[in-house]
Amino acid sequence: MPIVTSTEMFKKAYEGGYAIGAFNVNNMEIIQGITEAAAQTRSPLILQVSAGARKYAKHVYLMKLVEAAEADTGLPICLHLDHGENFEICKSCIDGGFTSVMIDGSKHPFEENVALTKQVVDYAHAHGVVVEGELGRLEGVEDDVVVSAADSSYTDPAQVEEFVSRTGVDSLAIAIGTSHGAYKFKPGTKPQLRFDILKEVEKRLPGFPIVLHGASSVIPEFVDTINAYGGRLNDAIGVPEDMLREAARMAVCKINIDSDLRLALTAGVRKHLAENPANFDPRQYLIPGRDNIRDLVRHKITAVLGSNDRI
Ligand code: G3H
Ligand code: 13P
Ligand code: ZN
Repeated sequence: MPIVTSTEMFKKAYEGGYAIGAFNVNNMEIIQGITEAAAQTRSPLILQVSAGARKYAKHVYLMKLVEAAEADTGLPICLHLDHGENFEICKSCIDGGFTSVMIDGSKHPFEENVALTKQVVDYAHAHGVVVEGELGRLEGVEDDVVVSAADSSYTDPAQVEEFVSRTGVDSLAIAIGTSHGAYKFKPGTKPQLRFDILKEVEKRLPGFPIVLHGASSVIPEFVDTINAYGGRLNDAIGVPEDMLREAARMAVCKINIDSDLRLALTAGVRKHLAENPANFDPRQYLIPGRDNIRDLVRHKITAVLGSNDRI
């Protein structure tokens, strides 16, 4: 099966009350860990690439690695640009073989966001590629861009129908209280998401796939391991898994996970190097990191997303 768009995946996920995991990838080990888990659980998959990942690994390497993962596993894989910030990067990914792009115009005023998103949609659809737009702004760190709590904003449900109909996007990312990175909620406070906003969006856009960014749970096991072996991740807090399950049962069809993968890989590498100080063979220290990613993604698919046994 060639690399696919997310159209069919989202249709089935919406109807089935589950979500597709969209996992950020930067190198071979991350791709192998994720796809091994998806193959074991028979789950469709979105692999997503940020501008930072393209800068780190180069477009062509990531493209070929994802093609290799598809050839190796036979999985339906959608290859998606995460947080495209302008038309040029979206065009470059469309021309370079991606099947899905996100144009993130959420930092712009509404009218500018509409115009930019529509420009990308027109080009993408003419090339058989689907588009994710965003309304509302998440707090946290993406690449070198830091969005402060003061600059973040929840999605206004009153804008979603107009945004979707004027732009023609295929899915919509909304801000309901998740954020990027490993520090999502203040220590000592109860993590909360605005399910009321999600419900209202769902009511206004029946059957339309919604996307949740910043959805890592910041698994304590990995944070503890990193800290036990010299790391210093204090007060790292993620989105509780039961909230993500609830969102997946609702209109959320795509759940974005990056930080959890980073923590899993780092925990494996740190532990291995601490326990084997004489080792300097990357193949040996990357294996526990890759295995951690595989086990984490298997857990996400079966216990959180519900996308197992869907192919
Ligand atoms: O939402 C952003 C993702 O976590 C990607 O992060 O831009 O550092 O690759 P990155
Ligand atoms: P996390 O930082 O919660 O993993 O979010 C990732 C994300 O939203 C990628 O677009
Ligand atoms: Zn994101």
